[in-house]
Amino acid sequence: MASLYSFICYHHLLLFLLAAAIAAALTTRAVADDMTHLHFYMHDILGGSNPTAVEIVKGPIALPSVPGINFGNLIVIDDALTEGPELSSRPIGRAQGFYMSTAFQEASVLLSVNFVLAADGPYNGSVVSVQGRDPIAAPVRELSVVGGTGQFRMARGYVLWKTHGVNDTNDEAILELDVYLTAQVP
Ligand SMILES: *[C@@H]1O[C@H](CO)[C@@H](O)[C@H](O)[C@H]1NC(C)=O
Ligand SMILES: *[C@@H]1O[C@H](CO)[C@@H](O)[C@H](O)[C@H]1NC(C)=O
Repeated sequence: MASLYSFICYHHLLLFLLAAAIAAALTTRAVADDMTHLHFYMHDILGGSNPTAVEIVKGPIALPSVPGINFGNLIVIDDALTEGPELSSRPIGRAQGFYMSTAFQEASVLLSVNFVLAADGPYNGSVVSVQGRDPIAAPVRELSVVGGTGQFRMARGYVLWKTHGVNDTNDEAILELDVYLTAQVP
C-alpha cells in the first residue's frame, strides 16, 4: 500500500506541477489579453461626388495580369472610419495616408496610413500608425502597427485587413479592420 500511496503522491506532485504550468501559461496569456482590440470599417471612395481617395500618380507600367492597375499607382487617402459597414454609421475617425501599387505579378500595394481616432471618442484623438503589404485579392491581409500617439504611444501590433464589400456607385471599397495592439500607457 505504501508504494501505491507514494504513487498517488507522485501523481499529486505531477498534478501540482501541471497546475503550476497551466497557471504560468495563463499568466502569459493574460499579457496577450492586455492587447487592445479595435474593430471598425474603412471607406475607400475613389469615385462619385465626394471621393476620399485620389490617384495622384499614374504608374507608368500596366500590369497585364491585373487590368486597370498600373505598377506605381499612388493614391492619397483621407478615408472615413465607421463603427459599422455603412458609411452613415457612427464615425470612429479617419484613415489618412497613401497606398502604392508595388508588385508586378499581382494587385498588391504598400500601404502607409495613420488611423486618427475621433477626439470626442474613447481614444481621444490618439493615432495608430500602420504600414504593410496589402495583396488586395487575399481574403485576409496582415499589416503592422508600427507606432502610435496619445493612448497608443509606443504601440506595437498588427491589423487583420479584409475587404467587406464594394459599392460600384461611388467606386467604394469597404474594408473591415481588426487592430490588435499593445501600447505604453502614458
Ligand atoms: C483627452 O484630450 C484632452 C485634450 O487634448 C486632454 O486634456 C485630456 O487629458 C485627454 N484625456 C486622456 C484620457 O487622454
Ligand atoms: C453606394 O453608394 C451610394 C453613394 O454614396 C449610396 O447612395 C448607396 O446607398 C450605396 N449603396 C450601398 C449598398 O451601400
